[in-house]
Amino acid sequence: MLQSLLFALLATVAWGAPHHGGHSNPFSPDNWPLPHNITGDSLTSSGQWGGVHTHDPSVVKGPDGWYYSFSTHNLVAISKAPSLNGYWKFIGSVLEGESVIDLPGRNDTWAPMVVKVGDLYYCYYSVSTFGSQDSAVGVATSRTLQPGTWTDHGAVITSGANKTSPLNITNAIDPSFFHDPKTGENLLTYGSFWTDIWQFWLARDLKSVVWKPKPVHLSYDPEGTNPEEGSFMSYHDGWYYVSLISGRSLRESQY
Ligand SMILES: *[C@@H]1O[C@H](CO)[C@@H](O)[C@H](O)[C@H]1NC(C)=O
Ligand SMILES: *[C@@H]1O[C@H](CO)[C@@H](O)[C@H](O)[C@H]1NC(C)=O
Ligand SMILES: *[C@@H]1O[C@H](CO)[C@@H](O)[C@H](O)[C@H]1NC(C)=O
Ligand SMILES: *[C@@H]1O[C@H](CO)[C@@H](O)[C@H](O)[C@H]1NC(C)=O
Repeated sequence: MLQSLLFALLATVAWGAPHHGGHSNPFSPDNWPLPHNITGDSLTSSGQWGGVHTHDPSVVKGPDGWYYSFSTHNLVAISKAPSLNGYWKFIGSVLEGESVIDLPGRNDTWAPMVVKVGDLYYCYYSVSTFGSQDSAVGVATSRTLQPGTWTDHGAVITSGANKTSPLNITNAIDPSFFHDPKTGENLLTYGSFWTDIWQFWLARDLKSVVWKPKPVHLSYDPEGTNPEEGSFMSYHDGWYYVSLISGRSLRESQY
C-alpha cells in the first residue's frame, strides 16, 4: 500500500509504449507522459486525487475495449478510460459494502490486482489497517468488470500472530497473481511490512491456497526493518522477474 507504486507502473507502461524514444532514458519524465485526470467523482473533489495520484492501481483492458483501473480505497475503486492515457472516469466499486472478511479495514480495502482466468475476472484485494498484522487477502469475481457485478468470496489467506508460518510472520497485503506459463500453475505473491515477499500456490478454485508445495520466501531484506511490498511477478524469455518496492530503496530515493 505504497503511494509510489503508481510511479513505477507509469514508468513500465511508458517503457512499452510505441512512442517512446528507442534508447532514451526510460526514467525520464519526458518518456512517461502523464495521463489525463480522473473525472466525474469525489476522487477529484478531495483535492488529493485526480492527475496521477491514484493509489496502488491495477489496470486491465475490458471486453469492450476500455481500460479499467482498480485501486486502493473506495471499496476497490473502479475507473475506466478509452486509452491508457486517460481521461479516467470513476464508475463505482468492486465491493458494494464492506468486505465479507471480518477484520478491521474491511470498509477501506487496499492494493487490488485484477486478472482474467477463463471467463472470470478475479479481483484480489487486501483488508488491513496501518501497522496491523491482522490482515487478509480477499477475492471477488465478475464476468464483466462492471460495478454491481462482483461477488465477494472473502479471504484467500489471513495473517496474524496465531496463524501458521509464514502467516504469523507477515501481513497479508498487496496481493499479486501470477500464471506460470511453463507449468500452468497459478500463484499468489503477497507481502509485507514484516519478512517481506512470500508466494503461495493457489488452489484450482483460485479462492484458496495449498500448502504443498510449501510457500516460498521470494525476497527478504535482512538489514534493519526494511519492508518490501507491492510485488509483481512476470515471465519473459526463460526468466522469471519479480518487481517490488523496498523500504530501503524508497528511503534512498526519498520517495
Ligand atoms: C488535474 O487535476 C489537478 C488536481 O485536481 C488540477 O490541479 C489540474 O489542473 C488538473 N489538470 C487538468 C489538465 O485538468
Ligand atoms: C472504517 O471504519 C472505521 C471503524 O468504524 C472508521 O474509523 C473509518 O473511518 C472507516 N473508514 C472508511 C473509509 O469508511
Ligand atoms: C493467540 O493465542 C494466544 C495464546 O493462546 C491467545 O492469548 C490470544 O488471544 C490469541 N490471539 C488471537 C488473535 O487469537
Ligand atoms: C509461527 O508459526 C510456526 C508454526 O507454523 C511456529 O513454529 C513459529 O514459532 C511461529 N513464529 C512466531 C513468530 O510466532
